[in-house]
Amino acid sequence: MASARLITFVLLIIYIMTAKQAGKRIFELREALNKHNHLYYIQDAPAISDYDFDMLLKELQKLEAEHPEFDDPNSPSRRVGGEVTKDFPNIKHTYPMLSLSNTYSEEELADFLERVRRLIPGTVEYVCELKYDGAAVGIRYKDGKLHKAITRGDGTKGDDITTNVRTINSVPLSLMGEGYPDEFEIRGEIFMTLDGFRELNAQRVKEGLEPFANPRNSASGTLKMQDSGIVATRPLDCFLYYVYSDREIANNHYESMLMVRDWGFKIPDPEKNYITKTHNIEHIFKFINYWDEHRYELPFEIDGIVVKVNAYEQQQKLGTTAKSPRWAIAYKFKAEQVSTELKTVTYQVGRTGAITPVANLAPVQLAGTTVKRASLHNADQIEKLDLHEGDFVFVEKGGEIIPKVVGVDLEKRTPGSPAVQYISHCPECGTELLREEGEAQHYCPNALGCPPQIKGRIEHFIGRKAMDIEGMGAETVELFYEEGLIRNYADLYALKQEQLLPLERMAEKSAENIISGIAASKEIPFERVLFALGIRFVGETVAKKLARHFESLQKLKEASYDELINVSEIGDRIAESVLAFFANKENEALVDRLVEAGLKFLVEKQEGASDTLEGKKIVISGSFERFGRTELKELIEKHGGKNTASVSKNTDLIVAGEGMGPSKRKKAEELGVELVDENQFAALIGL
Ligand code: IVH
Repeated sequence: MASARLITFVLLIIYIMTAKQAGKRIFELREALNKHNHLYYIQDAPAISDYDFDMLLKELQKLEAEHPEFDDPNSPSRRVGGEVTKDFPNIKHTYPMLSLSNTYSEEELADFLERVRRLIPGTVEYVCELKYDGAAVGIRYKDGKLHKAITRGDGTKGDDITTNVRTINSVPLSLMGEGYPDEFEIRGEIFMTLDGFRELNAQRVKEGLEPFANPRNSASGTLKMQDSGIVATRPLDCFLYYVYSDREIANNHYESMLMVRDWGFKIPDPEKNYITKTHNIEHIFKFINYWDEHRYELPFEIDGIVVKVNAYEQQQKLGTTAKSPRWAIAYKFKAEQVSTELKTVTYQVGRTGAITPVANLAPVQLAGTTVKRASLHNADQIEKLDLHEGDFVFVEKGGEIIPKVVGVDLEKRTPGSPAVQYISHCPECGTELLREEGEAQHYCPNALGCPPQIKGRIEHFIGRKAMDIEGMGAETVELFYEEGLIRNYADLYALKQEQLLPLERMAEKSAENIISGIAASKEIPFERVLFALGIRFVGETVAKKLARHFESLQKLKEASYDELINVSEIGDRIAESVLAFFANKENEALVDRLVEAGLKFLVEKQEGASDTLEGKKIVISGSFERFGRTELKELIEKHGGKNTASVSKNTDLIVAGEGMGPSKRKKAEELGVELVDENQFAALIGL
């Protein structure tokens, strides 16, 4: 008896010691990852390779999984997201989230400066900043840790988007340095970089999804997504522009900005002239004129300049109105516009058959680039503009990247010129176009016979994120199509090397690569095959969700509308599109041929996996003899359960080992959560 106690005691000591060591390492890793994150995303001066960074992150993730007692919502491992928020709770702002009074005119700006001069005796220093075009956020920090991030909402209350904001790499989760107040709030703008936005939209178009209208919509839409795992993949960035705290950290705004930079925040770079301070009114206008001219060289969008009175004391004297501070003003840039001649209107046919009218223009300089084409969106837009052949049109580059036609210069219209007639038939295959009720776009219904649609679908199918067929690209698809070798993606699997060899510019090696690339694609997992099929609105993420939920093509094909919309993040548009795809006989025949060719249409299960623990939330506590903690976690997941860190009313089961904390045991008893030891757990899953 006594020796059994002794053994338990020794085991407990060993467990505590290893836990202590693990804890120490976890803290070291978090600190290192935070530091490298800051060097990479804020200082733009990485000190280690991406690979080494990933290795540190992996080590941390492993240790955290084994030691949930060290769980921390601000661990750098949380940057990858994963938590899903169903409804964003509404939270009251500690400090109302004001907006700025706006002006488009230099006179009004001069009036503002004059008013300040009248009200504030002596000299006034101003800070000029860029006005970032994104979504405002207020981020609260407590004891140096990110506590809550809230949208502007109505200015009094906003939505709690903390989980999503944690995934933004330039937002610090733990602060560096010292001297920060125990509690404070920092306000800033979350935006999407232009490169990131373009890449994201190109991807969306490829997936048959509606592209985002502009980086601002894209950023604010992303912040309200339920799955923080997707938010983590979006190119969001954040600039901070104001600090609120009970205790003043400096006596002016500019100093505060420099201070928060030392705590790890990303503030606009004074060296790049993103922010400046001056006593001189002329400098303010110079700053504005400089950025009006150079704003298109920035890697992100701005829509104006913000001028702020620097000294807090003076800010207080000036006060605020119900809506905006009297110590600041936003000077907004006018969207740049030029007039040019409309040469022709042409129509593009996308992979999904959607028709986009394009205005081909006499080349003209606009916002730093030569514009030759502009978007006309759809038939209604052409009608609204009352566009006539040979018109001179006004082209604008506003928030959107692609310039758009915003009006017609009626004075330059040739009398009697005919109005532009929207086409009634597909420019590529001649089929009569359709327009569904409530849809803005016309489309060509000849999905299986219209060349750009056929080629587009095959291109999508072979793409890197779909079947990733090596050796093939848009040109090979074009060539094979022109030569009559393929008419759909299933035809790829019937191709023979001998058929390719006689083709122009096709070396033996290339033909061999293509054939082996096609054969290798049979190993691509079901979720990517599903994405490759090119079902409208089924992008990469949706395909993953559907594949994981239904686990096989058969089950997905049999799913009803209700079953489809019950999957998280699947709405009626997607559900209807999936149903329509499989209801189509030709699609069915195509998919049958892919099944015959040997592509994967089942989620591959690990050997011995089951759904015994399906949907169960299970806590692991203490140490074990038969299994390691990671092993237990893997077993839970293999059998459909979810390993969670702390005991709550949602916990279904606790696997209790040696040394389970008494408080946890008590909580489990109070909540009536079932406890099993490792052997009972093993029996449960048939081990
Ligand atoms: S200062 C009390 N500075 O513009 C402080 N705002 O209507 C008020 N914005 O919603 C904001 N860049 O999200 C400030 N450098 C900047 C800004 C900025 C963009 C946004 C902000 C606000 C809107 C003003």
